Amino acid sequence: MSGLFVTGTDTDVGKTRISIALIELLQQQGQHVACMKPVASGCEQTAQGLRNDDALALMAQANVHIDYDTVNPYAFNPAIAPHIAAQQVGINIDLSRIKEAYQQIASQADAVIVEGAGGWLVPLNSQKTMADLALELGLPVILVVDIRLGCINHALLTVAAINQTGLSLIGWVANQRRDNEQAAEIIDTLQHAISAPCLGIVPQLEPQKSAVEFLTMDNNK
Ligand SMILES: Nc1ncnc2c1ncn2[C@@H]1O[C@H](COP(=O)(O)OP(=O)(O)OP(=O)(O)O)[C@@H](O)[C@H]1O
Ligand SMILES: [Mg+2]
Repeated sequence: MSGLFVTGTDTDVGKTRISIALIELLQQQGQHVACMKPVASGCEQTAQGLRNDDALALMAQANVHIDYDTVNPYAFNPAIAPHIAAQQVGINIDLSRIKEAYQQIASQADAVIVEGAGGWLVPLNSQKTMADLALELGLPVILVVDIRLGCINHALLTVAAINQTGLSLIGWVANQRRDNEQAAEIIDTLQHAISAPCLGIVPQLEPQKSAVEFLTMDNNK
């Protein structure tokens, strides 16, 4: 395995938190791990250029060091849908440019964790979506599910859409960002409904606490 594409049931579901833990997990297995956040909106203007918190957080955990512009080739200032942010500054998000950056990163690492933006079908331009990007990179997918009311529908729709691309869903993570009295039942329902394995059940964590101890890459459900 050289790359993994991390998607989620929505924006703000824990993709970055789980991606960081996945990097850590692979590092514990002795791998040299790099990261990528190909498209990010909500970036801050700095003296070095636009910088995105997710990209910086992933880079801080990675142990293969890649320059910022390669990790995050498309950075936009407003915290809005990427294709709209791109349109506003007259940029067309070009998947082949992202693929070149990915290949450059992958050639230097044992594994690359790629974090999407938003959910699976977020548009990147008038023709392409995040799903097309995952397909262009040819990466197996991990789905992060925020365990809350409505997530079963979001998770199953996303699984169906991932399956439709033909990419392999290697597993999903139950992320309990907030307390939910039905969490156990929701997770049980998802375990029965999703044929890919559950790679972890992550409880609500303190802000600095790593999720790594709750994750596994073993393929038993
Ligand atoms: N298991 C958890 N326990 C407590 N807080 C969590 C947990 N998982 C994620 N969070 C918090 O929820 C917020 C959103 O998580 P995160 O930034 O990882 O989501 P995301 O899906 O990457 O969002 P985006 O779509 O903006 O990239 C963060 O403040 C994060 O620390
Ligand atoms: Mg994120």
